[in-house]
Amino acid sequence: MTTIDPSLMSDRTLLRYIMVTYHAPHLHALPRLRAATAGLSAVVIGEKSRLGALEIALRQLEFLLTHHQRKEETRLFPLIVRGDYAAASASAAEMSREHEQLDALLTRLSELTDGFRTEDPALERLWAALRSLHDAAVEHHRLEETVLFPRFRKEEESP
Ligand SMILES: [Fe+2]
Ligand SMILES: [Fe+2]
Repeated sequence: MTTIDPSLMSDRTLLRYIMVTYHAPHLHALPRLRAATAGLSAVVIGEKSRLGALEIALRQLEFLLTHHQRKEETRLFPLIVRGDYAAASASAAEMSREHEQLDALLTRLSELTDGFRTEDPALERLWAALRSLHDAAVEHHRLEETVLFPRFRKEEESP
């Protein structure tokens, strides 16, 4: 399968790519991961407090990410499509601050799982799924910061 470089996509195609590749899968994965974490805390001995902390972090991530993505899809992305780069730039500044909060929560997930490594077979599947979510979300935020946002931030700064 050929992978198209997102930096070569038109604005509309890139926005669609972000929604299909990251937004929808994140929203699908988070409630499942939270439920799996809650379910495991009853059966995995010695991990109760860590799994509890993990469940709280996942709950916070789900809440913040859901609102963040909704704001992008209902405010920022339509401004980009309309070519209103000044308003888009202001909205993106808020989104960048939220990326920092979200990335801090993703780091917390990594810390709580020892970098998603475990010797316990009961945790392997969940840790691997959390690693996938972590890696995809980090990649998602990096794509927006380094490929999407500079398109209109640069445009706004030019004379
Ligand atoms: Fe996004
Ligand atoms: Fe974002």
